[in-house]
Amino acid sequence: MVTIISNGKSSITIFIILCCILLHLADIQAATPPYFSFDGFNLTEDGDSLEFIGSGTSIDNGALQITPDTTNNDPSLHNQFGRIMYKHPFNMWLSDEIQASFNSNFVINIYRNTAPAWNAGEGLAFLIAPDLSIPDASYGQWLGLTNAINDGKQTNQIVAIEFDTEKQEYDPNDNHIGLNINSVNSTATVSLDDYNIELSPEVPTNYRVWVHYNGTSKVMEVYMVQDGQPKPEKPLLSKTINLKEYVNQKSYFGFAASTGNPQIELNCVLKWSLEIDDLQKKSDLLWLKIGAGVGVPLVTLLILCGVLYLYKRKRRGGGGDEESKALGTQLRWLPGMPREFKYKDLKKATNNFHESMMLGQGGFGVVYKGILQDKDHKTSTEIAVKKFSRDSIQSKDDFLAELTIIHRLRHKHLVRLVGWCYEKGKLLLLYDFMPNGSLDKHLYEASNQNTLNWRRRYRILAGVASALHYLHNEYDQKVVHRDLKASNILLDSDYNARLGDFGLARALDNERNSYAELGLAGVPGTMGYVAPECFHTGRATPESDVYGFGAVVLEVICSRSPGISINHHQRLYSLVDWVWMLHREGKIEEAVDERLGNDYVDDEAKKLLLLGLACSHPIASDRPQTQDIFQIISGTMPVPNVPPFKPAFTWPSMVTAFSSSDSTLTSTTFSS
Ligand SMILES: *[C@@H]1O[C@H](CO)[C@@H](O)[C@H](O)[C@H]1NC(C)=O
Ligand SMILES: *[C@@H]1O[C@H](CO)[C@@H](O)[C@H](O)[C@H]1NC(C)=O
Ligand SMILES: *[C@@H]1O[C@H](CO)[C@@H](O)[C@H](O)[C@H]1NC(C)=O
Repeated sequence: MVTIISNGKSSITIFIILCCILLHLADIQAATPPYFSFDGFNLTEDGDSLEFIGSGTSIDNGALQITPDTTNNDPSLHNQFGRIMYKHPFNMWLSDEIQASFNSNFVINIYRNTAPAWNAGEGLAFLIAPDLSIPDASYGQWLGLTNAINDGKQTNQIVAIEFDTEKQEYDPNDNHIGLNINSVNSTATVSLDDYNIELSPEVPTNYRVWVHYNGTSKVMEVYMVQDGQPKPEKPLLSKTINLKEYVNQKSYFGFAASTGNPQIELNCVLKWSLEIDDLQKKSDLLWLKIGAGVGVPLVTLLILCGVLYLYKRKRRGGGGDEESKALGTQLRWLPGMPREFKYKDLKKATNNFHESMMLGQGGFGVVYKGILQDKDHKTSTEIAVKKFSRDSIQSKDDFLAELTIIHRLRHKHLVRLVGWCYEKGKLLLLYDFMPNGSLDKHLYEASNQNTLNWRRRYRILAGVASALHYLHNEYDQKVVHRDLKASNILLDSDYNARLGDFGLARALDNERNSYAELGLAGVPGTMGYVAPECFHTGRATPESDVYGFGAVVLEVICSRSPGISINHHQRLYSLVDWVWMLHREGKIEEAVDERLGNDYVDDEAKKLLLLGLACSHPIASDRPQTQDIFQIISGTMPVPNVPPFKPAFTWPSMVTAFSSSDSTLTSTTFSS
C-alpha cells in the first residue's frame, strides 16, 4: 500500500493506515462466527453435543426424532412432546443496540402415515430457549413449547418458529408457520397453502428452511422450499422483533415438537446448521472502530450522555413511596417478625448487589451473598439476601405470602429467615448463609465429586424428608412446599440439608395453592419434578411434594437430572423410567452414581432407589406419605413393594377403596 512517508503529515498518515489495518482485522475476525453443522445425525458421533429432553426423543434413521419414531414402539405415539437442543448456549445480546445476528438452516420431515391413515398433528418448532428443560404436559396444542399453566408468560423467554399441522382456535388453518413469542398463540402466521407447501403430505416430503435474524435491523425472516430447490428470493414470513426483549442473554437453540390424540405425526429434523455472531468480539471491536475512526471527543460525548441518562433513570425510579410505607407497616405488625434492615446497609453488605456476590437465581428473584459488618467493625456475619425482581407485578403478594409462612416455621432442616427489608418498592429477605451452596452444584460439578460421599447423600435425604414431614404434619397448618428440587436444597457447613425457597409455599387451608391462580410462569415446570396430576388439577398437594421428593432422591443417588434423557441400549429414557427399567432388569444398583465407585452401602442404595420409584408413582394416592418416608429412611419401616413395570397415569385417578390417611395401606398398595 503506502510505502514512502516523507513529509510532515507522516504521523497522520500512519494513524490512518493503522486505522485501516485495525478495521480490516475487525472485518476478518467478525467473519468467523461460532458455527455448527450437522449433515445428518448419528447418536454415537453427535449425541454428546445435543441434549435430549423428553422421553420419546431420539436419533433414528439419521435424523433427530423430536417425538417418538415408529421404530420405537414404547411409548406410544400419542400425546408426546420433546425437545432436542444444541448443548452449548450462545450470547444473544449485549445491549439493545448490540444483538447477535444468526442464520440457521435445516431440513425437516413431518411424516404422516397413510396406511393406517393418520390425521397429522400437532407440530414442530425451531426454538430459542433459556435452558435445557421442557415444561411438563406440553403435548397436543402446546408443541413442546409451553403448557396450560405457563403459556403466554414472559418468564418463558422463548421465541420459536412453528410448523403447525393442527388448527386451534387461534390458528389460521392446519398448514401454517408462525412466529411464537412465549406462547403457542403466534404473533404472526402465514398459511402455507398460498405457497404450494403441505407440511405433512401423503408422499413424505423434506422441506428446507432458513431462519435469519439481523441483529441490527431486528428483522426475523423465514424462507422455506421443498428440499433440493434453490432458496427463494422473498421470505415467507418477515417480522421485526427485538429479541433482547424476550430471550435470555445466554440462550440455547434447538427443536421442540408434540403429538396429540388422536392426531399423530413423526417430527424429524434431517440436517441442521447454525451460525451466530460472536458478540464478545464484536463489542470490543466496535469500541475499537469508534475509538480509532471517530476519535476521543465523540467517545467523551457518548459517556456524558450515558451518565445523564442513568441519572435521569435513577430519579424517575423513586416513585411508589406511599405503597411502600403501607406495606412496611403491615410487615412490622406481623407477629414474630425477625429484624428489619435498611436498604442502604444491604446494598453495602452485597457490594451494591455486585455480580460477584450472586449466589443464584430462585423463584421471583436473585440471591446474593452479603457480609454485615458489626457497628464497631470488629465482627462480621454472612447472610444470603434474596432480592425480589421489581418488574414482576406479583412481587408484593409473593413477598407477603413467603413471609407469612416462613417467619413462623422453625425446623433444623429449613433455611432460617433472619431479616427483611422493604423500601422504595424494593423487596428483600435475609436468610442464614449456607456456605456449601445448593445441592445441585455438588451433584453436577466435576470438581466437587468428592464432597458428596455416601454418608452425606444419605443424611441430606433424611434431612429433606424430615423437613417435609414437619411441613406436612407437624406444623399447625399443613404447608406444601410446591417447588422441591435440588437447587432449592441448601447445604450448611456440615453438609446438612436445609430446605429453602418457600416462595411457592402456601398454607393449605387458605385455598391459595392453585398454580393457575398464582399466575406462575415456568416455575412449576422444571421437567421431572412436577407430579402429572398437577397439570390436570393445577393444585399442589402433599402428594405432589412427595413426587418432587422422589425425583430428588433419584437425582441424589444417580447424580442425574430428572429432566435429561439417558441413553440405555440405544433408547432414551427419563431418569424415573431408566431406574424403573434397571429395577425390572434386576440390577437397580447400576443406577448409583458411578463416581462413588464401591464407596456406598448396597442395601441403603437399593432402599433409597426403590423409595424414589415409589414416590414417583404416577397415581398420587399410591405414593407413600411423608411420615412413612421418614420411617423408611430411618429403617423402622420396610420399603414398599415396587412393581416391575411403571403403572400408567390415569386421569381422573381411580379412587382407592382406602382412605389415603391410612399409612400402612398407602405404603403397600403397589401390587405386581
Ligand atoms: C455412527 O457412527 C459410528 C462411529 O463413527 C459408526 O460406527 C456407526 O455405524 C454410525 N451409525 C450409523 C447408524 O450410521
Ligand atoms: C391469541 O392472541 C391474540 C392477540 O395476540 C388475542 O386477541 C387472542 O384472544 C388470543 N387467542 C387465544 C385463544 O388465546
Ligand atoms: C442488517 O440490517 C442492517 C440495517 O438495516 C443492514 O445495513 C445490513 O446489511 C443487514 N445485514 C444483513 C446481513 O442483511
